[in-house]
Amino acid sequence: MKHIYITTPIYYPNSDPHIGTAYTTCIADFLARYYKQRNYDVFFMTGNDENSIKVYETAQNLKIDTPTYINQMAELFKQIWQKLSIEYDKFIRTTDDYHIKTVEFVFNKLYEKGYIYKSHYEGWYCKSCETFWTKTKVSENRICPNIECQKPLEIVKEDNYFFRLSAFQEKLLKFYEQNPETIFPKSRYNEIVSFIKMGLQDISVSRKNVEWGIKVPFDKEYTIYVWIDALTNYISGIGYPDNFLEHYWHNSYHIMGKDIIRFHAVIWPSILMALDLNLPKKIIAHGWLTTPENQKISKSKGGDMFNLKNFVLNKPNYLIMGLRYYLLREGSFGEDIPVSLERFQQVYNSELANNIGNLVSRVLALTQKNLDSIVYKKSEFSFIHNFSQKTINDFESSVENFEFSKSMDSLIDLANFLNKKIEENRPWELANDKESLNKLMFELIYGIIFIAKLIYPVLPYISSKILDQLGIGDLNIDEKVLDKIEVRYRESLFPVLRSNADMV
Ligand code: ME8
Ligand code: MG
Repeated sequence: MKHIYITTPIYYPNSDPHIGTAYTTCIADFLARYYKQRNYDVFFMTGNDENSIKVYETAQNLKIDTPTYINQMAELFKQIWQKLSIEYDKFIRTTDDYHIKTVEFVFNKLYEKGYIYKSHYEGWYCKSCETFWTKTKVSENRICPNIECQKPLEIVKEDNYFFRLSAFQEKLLKFYEQNPETIFPKSRYNEIVSFIKMGLQDISVSRKNVEWGIKVPFDKEYTIYVWIDALTNYISGIGYPDNFLEHYWHNSYHIMGKDIIRFHAVIWPSILMALDLNLPKKIIAHGWLTTPENQKISKSKGGDMFNLKNFVLNKPNYLIMGLRYYLLREGSFGEDIPVSLERFQQVYNSELANNIGNLVSRVLALTQKNLDSIVYKKSEFSFIHNFSQKTINDFESSVENFEFSKSMDSLIDLANFLNKKIEENRPWELANDKESLNKLMFELIYGIIFIAKLIYPVLPYISSKILDQLGIGDLNIDEKVLDKIEVRYRESLFPVLRSNADMV
């Protein structure tokens, strides 16, 4: 059996999830379901990064004690993911005991092997990005050099623990040169390789007198740098070191936004090398969801026109499924993607309501009306096989190349094709020729079952709703063996959206 491990970043619970957070999580869920459906043993993990100073400060500002605050946020994240049909195998929290133990183990081990040492640090720290900045990178104004952030920095002058990142420069370069497919997209690969070539310096991996976080096990004045703690979630979550599920680790896919690719593609692999562990199989960095004016949607600057929390907690399931579809469908995965309610409405209406939804409803209605709801397989098919084979091939190759929008094209092409067959064969004129009508409708229903299976990773609720209307309870059914199908009932899949008011 093949195994695959799929992860999202663990999110800082210093504010509610927004459409950008949902984007990464929906992509990861899509891939997890895709591989599950193809009989992989999948382990899909998401979770929260709770040991950050800014999480602590948010709780303080709200006058809630931090443990209570992070518990509430973990419940909120889980609730939102559940509404979005995110089927994770584990939700990790970095305040979980097993995680803390693993982080301590890792820190100790790196120290024992000489990869962590104590020295003096003088430089700047951005609490918002949780990033150390050396003096050379910071200009007079003392604001964070990260263009997305630009918040005031604090000066740090303290004895500190350092990780010997410089020791991994050559090994990392060699690894990436031999395994260029590790980083997606290619542009990020190039960015990472040239960053490494510029030279890697040792990095600070502790903070002194910071109250919140995991302590350095042998020096309790110090707190472990939150990124070392956070990255370790990817192995603590699958049991490292004592119950390590290595079969997952051998095929690990980390999905994230481009803001944190360096942590994942430079620091994390170096730590793994230091621990003698395999490197990630894929490091997949997508672009920003932006406003139509190309502004990144973010916690601090806002811009989430979907108002994600309200959307998923209050909207009907067909709209939530529509949102999953839209996030995969819009733009080109890897690039920045402007999103809007207007585009959502357009895509939803034209591809879901008027295409897939309409196809299913027409075919089921005609079968109910003119064939007493039952079709029989009496002869060979005439048009579906070639097209469905081509669809599945196209779909799978684009998914596996992370061309998600293109993979949605394949679904839509198949639905278009079947809608066209209806127009060509005019089943409404065949009411008196039951044999021809039965043959045509069986083939169309067969096509619909095929679509229901294909859309499962992106539209899981709709997939089971279609199959349920046909009395099929098992997603893994082999449609080839069916010789009689009964339309049990008919229910609209995607009501047409008339205005923005239907959405917000
Ligand atoms: O960075 N478009 O957490 P975070 C697309 N805790 N994706 C977006 C987005 C947008 N506009 N805005 C945010 C952290 N994201 C760390 C991670 S992992 C070991 C530790 C997504 O809460 C995207 O995946 O700041 C981005 O990388 C992530 O949210 C950042 O989440
Ligand atoms: Mg962030």
